[in-house]
Amino acid sequence: MNYAEEIRKLAAEKDALILVHNYEPAEIQDVADICGDSLELARKAKEASASTLVICGVYFMAETAKILSPEKTVLIPRPDAGCPLADQLTPEMVRAAKSAHPGAPFVVYVNSSAATKAECDITCTSANAADVVRSLESDTVLFGPDANLASWVREQVPEKTVITVPENGGCPIHHKVTVEEIERLRREFPNATVICHPECAPEVQKASDMIGSTGYMIRNCGEKQEWIIVTESGILHPLRKRYPETVFHGIEAVCDNMKLITLKDLYETLAEGKNEVVVEKETADRARKAIERMIEASA
Ligand code: 13P
Repeated sequence: MNYAEEIRKLAAEKDALILVHNYEPAEIQDVADICGDSLELARKAKEASASTLVICGVYFMAETAKILSPEKTVLIPRPDAGCPLADQLTPEMVRAAKSAHPGAPFVVYVNSSAATKAECDITCTSANAADVVRSLESDTVLFGPDANLASWVREQVPEKTVITVPENGGCPIHHKVTVEEIERLRREFPNATVICHPECAPEVQKASDMIGSTGYMIRNCGEKQEWIIVTESGILHPLRKRYPETVFHGIEAVCDNMKLITLKDLYETLAEGKNEVVVEKETADRARKAIERMIEASA
């Protein structure tokens, strides 16, 4: 069977929109209606008119889509696609931090569960974290679970005190990138510009020329002829597609969770309408406030 063709036929028949994250396998990105970073996927999920959304990414992305579009059917072809970063901040940890710092708003990275978002004041993504923190009145802000992203926010918003919860949370894939690796790549490709994801450690951010979300990379990598891309390897596919004349060098960084979905999984999910995402109403209503506040703050 030609899965890609059958998937497109089924999507049309079932009034389904396929939204795919930039780290997904190339063949999944190629059958998408929309590819994007976390913020773009959240925005499109909210605006979409289709009755079904199929989210190809990790679970928190599908939960975010369901929270923003409770009237739609939201499916995820692999519900077991988790995010180890999201698991690092529990609702209890948010409650404890808020009672230790009364009045300080909690900014939660979208890489978190619906239950954790429900305890927080506002969400952020790597595309808008500084704007979100800047938009808050309070001088002190609680931020989690990504301490590396928090460090990039501190650089851009030095007037605020940003307290990380947990102290050292991070994405295992991005956190293991080293300055030595960047320096080695710079020696190998001396004409390349280095761009890293803000989930990388602060010293890797400093060793890079530019920092940004996956969507930022896709929008801005037309500016130079040669790049070293410091994030999960899935991003190389949309970059090479969009800028065929440009040279992109990647790093050794693969998120296994982002590589779980196969065309067969996607086909079966659509055909059977299975793997529906459910978020309990009270949790969804509270989490929605935090996500919508972010969308307003970064409009
Ligand atoms: P983006 O928002 O840049 O797509 O990043 C999502 C993510 O999960 C990074 O690990």
